[in-house]
Amino acid sequence: MLSAAFLFVTDLDNTYVGNDAALAELMSQLSNSRREKGTKIVYATGRSLYLYRLLARNKSLLEPDALIASVGTEIYFDLKSDRFDREWAQVLAAGWNRSEIEAIAAQYSQLQPQPESEQGEFKVSYYLAGEAATKEVLPSLEKALSDRGFDVQLIYSAGQDLDILPRGGNKGLAVQFLQRHWGMEDVRTVVCGDSGNDIALFEVGEARGIIVGNAQSELRAWYEANRTDFRYFATEEYAAGILEGLQHFGWVSIG
Ligand code: GLC
Ligand code: MG
Repeated sequence: MLSAAFLFVTDLDNTYVGNDAALAELMSQLSNSRREKGTKIVYATGRSLYLYRLLARNKSLLEPDALIASVGTEIYFDLKSDRFDREWAQVLAAGWNRSEIEAIAAQYSQLQPQPESEQGEFKVSYYLAGEAATKEVLPSLEKALSDRGFDVQLIYSAGQDLDILPRGGNKGLAVQFLQRHWGMEDVRTVVCGDSGNDIALFEVGEARGIIVGNAQSELRAWYEANRTDFRYFATEEYAAGILEGLQHFGWVSIG
């Protein structure tokens, strides 16, 4: 294992979680690195805190040093508390008006609201299926929101999930907030993901990137269009892909 600490950031569903045996090996490597070097472990998920807790219990996940939840719009340093970091919330609040944004989106019958647990203070989420619907709804909704003066971002993942978020809030920007908090630079940061809402992890700054072998088409396409040697497309899937990538960057040695 390399001597210095690093900041390890990973998406959960279909990236960290998906292969239990590989996950157990990865968690043991990370836990050693944290204990011996002071490596920081961060989960960056689309899930709310509520759905995160269900998964964490179900898979006995290692407790992270911070949780980025709700697609980057909530940061928790204390996982026992239900309160997300207010400094980050303040950054997101500018120009955001949840109820007005929801009212504009409600005009699109193709958008099915996600469950209440997945609606956040700074996240309005829907299900939206089908390529045709996507091509027609997304550009029109984007225009309707910007015509009304909302500077928001639409993030579409896995051919089904649509999140409307403040422009200043996504997984990648939340990672930058944590980098500043802990004084960790891009060269000591690694981010891992498999789908559309992870693109921001790779795109913001120049953190080392690991794309797992089972990545969704939207992330594959983005990777192909944005190749650099600090992003690694793994052959292996899920946590085995992460381990492969960490070895590639020299941050763990296995066997
Ligand atoms: C998670 C969240 C959901 C979100 C999706 C994609 O599944 O629960 O609300 O739309 O991630 O970001
Ligand atoms: Mg995922």
